[in-house]
Amino acid sequence: MKAVKVKENIYWVGAVDWDVRNFHGYLTQRGATYNAYLVIDDKITLIDTVKAGFEDEILSRVESVVPLDKVDYIIVNHIEKDHSGAFPKVREACPNATVVCDAKAQEGLKAHYHKDYEAQLVKSGDTLKTGKYEFTFVQTPMVHWPDSMVTYLAAEKTLFPNDAFGQHFASSKRFDKEVPKDLLMYEASKYYANIVLPFGKQVQKALQALGGLEIDTICPSHGFILQDRIPDFLDAYQRWSTNTTKEKAVVVYDSMWHATEKMAKAVYTAFENKGIEVKAMSLKENHISDIMAEVLEAKYIAVGSPTLNSGMMPSVASFLCYMKGLNPQNRVGIPFGSYGWSGQSPNLIKETMEAMKWEVLDQMDTMRLVYEPTKEQLNAITETVENFVK
Ligand code: FEO
Repeated sequence: MKAVKVKENIYWVGAVDWDVRNFHGYLTQRGATYNAYLVIDDKITLIDTVKAGFEDEILSRVESVVPLDKVDYIIVNHIEKDHSGAFPKVREACPNATVVCDAKAQEGLKAHYHKDYEAQLVKSGDTLKTGKYEFTFVQTPMVHWPDSMVTYLAAEKTLFPNDAFGQHFASSKRFDKEVPKDLLMYEASKYYANIVLPFGKQVQKALQALGGLEIDTICPSHGFILQDRIPDFLDAYQRWSTNTTKEKAVVVYDSMWHATEKMAKAVYTAFENKGIEVKAMSLKENHISDIMAEVLEAKYIAVGSPTLNSGMMPSVASFLCYMKGLNPQNRVGIPFGSYGWSGQSPNLIKETMEAMKWEVLDQMDTMRLVYEPTKEQLNAITETVENFVK
């Protein structure tokens, strides 16, 4: 397999995973890529590796440019296994390379692979000279793990930010201009919502650290290389990392005998009546990671569940657990649900929303109903939600 030229001395040497459909719980319907880059100078530098199982792919792409024993440095920006899984074999295959990473990454490599890897340890502001080029490192802890850092090549105005600015997207194309903008931004938003959302403060710090840099190319570790869409990504990361929402509602629910579903439609109608963009997402039909993509910029999140065995339906509990971990902030919550005799579910949903410090509609006499809702009760739900939104 061949490398793809990004710029005169920069090559993409990553792997395309056409088959992956579940990335630790996140549905990747379009597959994924694990990007690595080779920079040619007096000294030759490999930036990141790929997931285990793709060793032959990365090594053959590197070898299409230079023999493996000519690689002088392997920069490890991040040790999560989608980037470091192939590291042990790549390290062995490039015997003359010096590993460059931060101290957390070195510890992490040892904990993952039970081997002491010698490394040239770097921290924010440190540089690596390879001839005419000088790389600068900026540690970006928790974007995505404690070890994460980004590498900047000023002479080429190119940033290698690893997980930041990624999208899960398998393709034979490599550049942002080769994919429709809407599709690219949707996959970027889904990626942010499911991977990066809990780390908004750290993203803000990273954006500030990168703010003064001249950048015309961003080479992320997943998806397309950014050249034409950099301002769109910077704007989006600014919004997403500050939990900036818009007038949009997502109504998420499951139902046993359609009663909670009818309540969901009554909630939906309230937003429709108010002219607010709204999506109804049944947990029977929608994956939690696709729902999170819609939650990302939605101000109003309604969640409904019938009461099952004194609790929520497992599908709703799973969604709430997942969403709570991702920690969307500055939201307005609307819990609801039908029940037969004990009726705990809407209160459990409310407690989860309150634990996330959301403003929550607390009107259980209207939003928690026994068995089948009447037309009047459904109208009352719509009116209550309309008034609450007002
Ligand atoms: Fe793409 Fe945090 O790994």
